[in-house]
Formats: sequence, structure tokens, C-alpha cells
Amino acid sequence: MTAGSIGIFDSGVGGLGILREVQSLLPSTEIVYVADQAHSPYGERGLTAVRARAFAVSEYLIDAGATTVVVACNSASAAALHELRDRFPAVSFVGMEPAVKPAVGATQRGTIGVLATEATFQGELFSSVVDRHARGVSVVARACPGLAAAIEDGDDTDDLIRRFTADVVGRGADTIVLGCTHYSFVADQIQAAAGDGVTVIDPAPAIARQVVRVRPGHDDTDNGVTRYLTTGDPERFASQIERLTGSTQSTSTVEIEG
Ligand code: DGL
Repeated sequence: MTAGSIGIFDSGVGGLGILREVQSLLPSTEIVYVADQAHSPYGERGLTAVRARAFAVSEYLIDAGATTVVVACNSASAAALHELRDRFPAVSFVGMEPAVKPAVGATQRGTIGVLATEATFQGELFSSVVDRHARGVSVVARACPGLAAAIEDGDDTDDLIRRFTADVVGRGADTIVLGCTHYSFVADQIQAAAGDGVTVIDPAPAIARQVVRVRPGHDDTDNGVTRYLTTGDPERFASQIERLTGSTQSTSTVEIEG
């Protein structure tokens, strides 16, 4: 990995949606993507365990030369983003926080829904985002247990999506924030379940623009290669990439202690 490259990680495949957006804005930048699949799902583990993994994977990427680290996971951002920035001040971290601000701008009826993991709602980041951006707007926070794992495994997600979406729409939300990066891959299903009058907000493109912003003057003369690493099974990861993005990639396994 070249010094100055970008590291992106998630518990699994969710961050591939962010990766795709970053690749399209920075096509000649070297990127290393780590799927921490030996420890997924993050969203149903405690914040302390997720924080430990976020530190271990970030450290791996930084040691390998990343100067920008994208925490392409709401759960890991909730658990560790502030501490990562304190611990590695020379590194630019881009993290995920639920896109409450644009949702507040979009809602007509004054109620927004956020679909995310349990871990994301437990972190202080979520309450601080709501305090900062959702004055005067009701926020329906809906944890979606099992949904990220079903997307990861390629299982049928219809029933889960119908149930979680109906819950937030039934409680008045006319705008739904995708608060877990895995959910980008079922955004169309969520939109269909919510109906035409509901706006679904996927933050992936905005996050990619933020990655460009934190690399001012960076000379993107790298080789434009993306490496796909997993702490789990590389063959399974390659077939997940193919299923979700339609592209064939070679993948390798990486051991990251912590
Ligand atoms: N993609 C992760 C997120 O954005 C969570 C998935 C998981 O539970 O591991 O929260």
C-alpha cells in the first residue's frame, strides 16, 4: 500500500457502497478495503467490542500507509470515531453519522425515521446528531436487528424490510435515513416498501464528497488499484462483491488482532 492511500473499512460488505462512490470521484487513488467479517455483525455487539475492532482495523490501515481512513460503518463510527481522531491526529478520518440534517431539510410533516443497528443508537454520536440537527422535528429511531446480516449473507430481506419500514412510516415518518451502510444495497426495496410519498436518504454520495474534501491538494498519482481484504473467508467475500456490485475482484485474507 502506498503512503497517502485511502483505507476504508466496515464489518463486511456495507462499506462497498461508499467504496464505489469514492472510486468514482478518485479513480486514480490507491484504496484498501477491509471487511472485518470475522467479527461481524458489529451492530449487534457491544460498543466496547466494536470500538476495539475499529481501533485494530484503523491501526492496520494506518501502519500500511493510509493517511485517510473512512469508517464506512455507522456502528463503528458510533463506537469509536471521536477516540480514533484523538488517538491518530495526523490521519483524516471520515465517519458515518446518520443523515439527520438532510432529512430534517426534506421532511414535510416534521417526522423522520432512522433505520440503523442497535449499536448506532447506543452511541453518543446519534444523540448528539439529533440534538444538533433535529430541533422541532420528531425522530423515529428504529433498530433493524438481522437486516445487515441478511444482506451480508444474501438471505431474503423482504419481510424484515417491510416490517421495519412499516413501523417508521406508521409512526408518521415521511423521510427515512439509511443509518447503516449495508442498507444502501436494499435502498430500492426500502423505497418500494415505504411508498412514493416517502423520501429515502442514502448518505453514500455525500460521504464520498467528504473524502475528497479532507484530501486537499492530494496528488492522486497512485495506481488506482483497490485491494479487497477480509478477516473472514476470501472466497465468500469475492462472491458477495460479485452479487452486490456485479464486479469480479480478487480478494485476500488478512489477520488483524485486537
Ligand atoms: N454496516 C454497519 C453499519 O453501518 C453495520 C453492519 C453490522 O451490524 O455489522 O452500521
